[in-house]
Amino acid sequence: MTAFFVIHSDLPREGPGDDESLNWALSHLTLPRAPRILDAGCGPGADIPGLLAHRPQARILALDTHAPFIDRVRARHADDPRVRAGTDDMARPDGRFDLIWTAGALYFLGVRAGLQGWRDHLTDECAVIYSELCWTGQPRSDAALAHWAQYEAMQDQNGVLADTRAAGFTVLAHRYLPQAAWATYYQPVQARIDRLRGTEPDAELTAALDAEQSEIDLWHAHGNEYGYLQVVAVPE
Ligand SMILES: C[S@@+](CC[C@H](N)C(=O)[O-])C[C@H]1O[C@@H](n2cnc3c(N)ncnc32)[C@H](O)[C@@H]1O
Repeated sequence: MTAFFVIHSDLPREGPGDDESLNWALSHLTLPRAPRILDAGCGPGADIPGLLAHRPQARILALDTHAPFIDRVRARHADDPRVRAGTDDMARPDGRFDLIWTAGALYFLGVRAGLQGWRDHLTDECAVIYSELCWTGQPRSDAALAHWAQYEAMQDQNGVLADTRAAGFTVLAHRYLPQAAWATYYQPVQARIDRLRGTEPDAELTAALDAEQSEIDLWHAHGNEYGYLQVVAVPE
């Protein structure tokens, strides 16, 4: 297992998000009573219970290329026929969906290319809800610029919304995820770092722990300079 997954195994979620932000986004839509939902890049499946709470008759396809996440989703929903999970590429899901939900995963495809590709996988009355890391417009510190240089395509809010429209979507609503949604992600990561510190068997894990810690420290010091823009969009 890579050092990254030593740290990330069995965490509740793999990016910022929480029930409040999920419900905020869903409040802008009227989904069918029994919608088909794709959770694209579902990670360990943190958002599946919230999606089911919103539409108890939903059928959810949860896709993630990282097999251990899918094993976890399957184990958690083993007795629930509403949830299927697989390691297929989210860019080419099987079927059409009333909602494509993708928390922190669209950047793997690129906002514009990913949304364009999903147009053929959406029903007539459908929507996409995604969250995308971007610059907020506050002055960018050297520390934030250096850290997020790893995300070369990172844009500001206008760029993300322009890409959404260029992909043929109308934006119904958007806002930055509240800080609480970041804390929901980072608190378990911090607890894992604290538990693993001092036990590292090799330099690779030490370096991975340092990298995770510096990302959390950056958020505490400069988290106002960047955010996860949550976007609710429908095809034109
Ligand atoms: C930042 S994580 C977010 C996971 C989850 N949505 C959450 O919020 O906890 C992004 C996920 O997208 C998955 N992913 C990346 N490219 C993918 C692809 N082409 N198809 C399916 N999953 C993909 C990764 O394996 C990763 O688990």
